[in-house]
Amino acid sequence: MNLDEAGGVFTDPTAYADEQRFHAATAVLRRESPVHRVETEGFAPFWAITRYDDVMEISRDSELWHNAPRTAVQQDPDAPAPPIRALVQMDAPDHPIYRHISADWFKPAGVRRLSDRITQLAKRYVDHMADLGGECDFVQDVAAHYPLYVILSLLGLPEEDFPRMLKLTQELFGAEDQDLARAADGDAAAMEALLDFFQYFQKVIADRRENPTDDLGSVIANATVHGDTIGELEVVGYYVLIATAGHDTTSAAISGGLHALLDNPDQWQRLTADPSALVPTAVDEMIRWTSPVKHFMRTATRDTTIRGVPIPAGDAVLLSYPSANRDEDVFTDPQTFDVGRTPNKHVGFGFGAHYCLGTHLARLEARALYTELVPRLREVELAGTPEYMQTVFVGGPKRLPIRYKIS
Ligand code: HEM
Repeated sequence: MNLDEAGGVFTDPTAYADEQRFHAATAVLRRESPVHRVETEGFAPFWAITRYDDVMEISRDSELWHNAPRTAVQQDPDAPAPPIRALVQMDAPDHPIYRHISADWFKPAGVRRLSDRITQLAKRYVDHMADLGGECDFVQDVAAHYPLYVILSLLGLPEEDFPRMLKLTQELFGAEDQDLARAADGDAAAMEALLDFFQYFQKVIADRRENPTDDLGSVIANATVHGDTIGELEVVGYYVLIATAGHDTTSAAISGGLHALLDNPDQWQRLTADPSALVPTAVDEMIRWTSPVKHFMRTATRDTTIRGVPIPAGDAVLLSYPSANRDEDVFTDPQTFDVGRTPNKHVGFGFGAHYCLGTHLARLEARALYTELVPRLREVELAGTPEYMQTVFVGGPKRLPIRYKIS
């Protein structure tokens, strides 16, 4: 594979749906061109950053590297800005102020409040697998639903809105996948899904302002910034970010994790032999292995260099988390899925000022599900060919047909 082909994977949704091709391409880039200029027709040019240390260093310096104005690769650089402003689009001084609004809710103590509810939901979905009688699509029947339920509980949204939220998040992140998108053009499809979110959440926000409760949705709707009620773009942005960031990511880690276990039966055996010791490390290995968030971008605020390569002010860099998580200089046998991997300093949750707010929640959810599932599931195997979502941003398995015995 030549360097141009390798660099093309970041703008090609089909590349992420073919994990082998993607990892082969990024291995070439890490070795031969770790700061690689990508100029794909129809996309604004950017630099692909594929090595762990560089991803960390850029993420750490949020003064030099801003999230605005370009947070992710965008097909049409002149497309109108989305009608929301969320944490991932913000920089200091606004970013820490807005992050602070919900930060307490996401700390371990805050998340522990949801622990019983999450354990209950995990059991509900494993019971559902039993009801399905020994065969299911683990993505469509379990992984796509369970984390969304947790998020809906967190925001205090009613259970009957669940199907609509599921459809909207899938349309937003699956905008490049013809099976999931609502229009041929990825950017337009994502924008339509965003507008629907906007309308739906505006009603919820109005209600939370009138009848505040103790859920996270109320905390955000009634937050004040510099003495004023939080702005419309910002409050909707917050809801959309939490609803979307907390859902497809965790479901991709859970289902991609099961796929990895099925591909590596020795690791499944290890996990079933000692789940209480190994579920926590297995979950982090699933996040490293699947890296559900494929990238974020940063823009240089002044002229700088990375590994000696000059980057002019205003140029964007793409931080490739799946590539950084397979960096040979950092991880022992990075292409091996190891449920007991320790240490495991993966960068699947990002790093620095924008470090994922949902890490405790995501780990709690994934651990709860596997703690329930592993002891009950026996003789599990693939019942068809798994398929991955076409995406350039967030994704994982789209279908994971399995056959199993379950108690
Ligand atoms: C396995 C599951 C998850 C993965 C892999 C993941 C990954 C990430 C990544 C890579 C970032 C960007 C970090 C950076 O720029 O340095 C991020 C940000 C964020 N995540 Fe997650 N995430 C997951 C689950 C969740 C959950 C469950 C929630 C909440 C309900 C959540 C909420 C957020 C928020 C609000 C941000 C923006 C933080 C900021 O910009 O300050 N995430 N996540």
